[in-house]
Amino acid sequence: MEKHKLATRVGEIAPFQVMVVLTKAKQLAAQGEDVIHLEVGEPDFVAVDAVAAAGVDAIQQGNTGYTAATGLPELKQAISDDYQQRYDVHVSPERIIVTPGASGALLLMASLMANAGEEVLMPDPCYPCNRHFLIQTGVKAKLVETRSEDGFEMDLNTLSDHWNDNTSGLWLASPSNPTGAVLSKAYLTQAWQEVQALGGHLLVDEIYQGLVYEGDDFSALSIADDIFVINSFSKYFAMTGWRLGWLVVPEWAIEGATKLAQNLFISAPTVSQYAAVRAFQPDVLAECEARRQILNARRLALLAGLKRIGLPVVAPAQGAFYVYVDVSSVTKDAMAWCLDLLETEKVALTPGADFGMKDAHKYVRFAYTCDESRLEEALARIARFIAA
Ligand SMILES: Cc1ncc(COP(=O)(O)O)c(C=O)c1O
Repeated sequence: MEKHKLATRVGEIAPFQVMVVLTKAKQLAAQGEDVIHLEVGEPDFVAVDAVAAAGVDAIQQGNTGYTAATGLPELKQAISDDYQQRYDVHVSPERIIVTPGASGALLLMASLMANAGEEVLMPDPCYPCNRHFLIQTGVKAKLVETRSEDGFEMDLNTLSDHWNDNTSGLWLASPSNPTGAVLSKAYLTQAWQEVQALGGHLLVDEIYQGLVYEGDDFSALSIADDIFVINSFSKYFAMTGWRLGWLVVPEWAIEGATKLAQNLFISAPTVSQYAAVRAFQPDVLAECEARRQILNARRLALLAGLKRIGLPVVAPAQGAFYVYVDVSSVTKDAMAWCLDLLETEKVALTPGADFGMKDAHKYVRFAYTCDESRLEEALARIARFIAA
């Protein structure tokens, strides 16, 4: 056997291009440069104090062993109650599988629903790890072309053209990373009808749920119990490093998902689970709502600023904390432009190539994860860079 030979699938996984930007940004910061970070998909808030305190409490009380594989019963109940209260949808706690982040839920989903050799459809652009989780299980991600004129929404009327005997399902996200676009209930209802007619599964990644500024903030679970839904404490609750998310499965998939969760993870992080039980109390939700309003003010400032400096926003930025921007009027290569901008003006953005294949060199993603004055400063620097 050849020595030092990695599995073939490793070669199929693309590294994040933004890491090149991030490494460069860190070098510049280490040299004392004032870098404005608009590249990382992570809130600039931390867990609400009461939630963090519940985590500390769990450690002090020795609540640190494994939990049940699908999660602490009180957390599953709290998530179920929250679906009822905030989204008016009944989801029994048994259908909720608590996972290490939405990442764990995506890996679980890839293992649960697709056979090796099959394909899963998703729009181009989308969250890049989706396709990599599928590769782990020998499944192929098939990116379906979308048009900027449609806000990068997949045309459902042509879904059957992309579907074949080997297609297992369709994965969508709302609000979307990288565009921030929110899918309407009518759109998701049609997606579900089409997928059912074609005989596959539908997954909706709702990790940015709650961070909606325009359009409906609803759950796909209100459309049908047989839709799979992913969520996480990373974004709305600003708990990225606590590594906690969940997957909602239909009744008929509970047993299979439980077996997989036992084997893949044993359980999600215990301290984080105890902390997260506290997240659904009214005081914490009120704090999260106040943060949503801060994010919305930033979003509006960024959209106005981009208009001012003549960079078109190519998808309706209605949710999450992203804006997807067309930079083709100022460069032929968004990645090179990002590096040049960083070097010259110390503003870090994410190149479109991290999210899609088609025309990705035209786009960059802004994350409005810094306060408004820094956003304004970033816009002024970008304007100067373009004018130079
Ligand atoms: C659309 C989407 N899904 C899933 C994830 C994974 O999130 P986590 O594992 O932190 O819950 C991310 C992270 O940015 C994301 O943007």
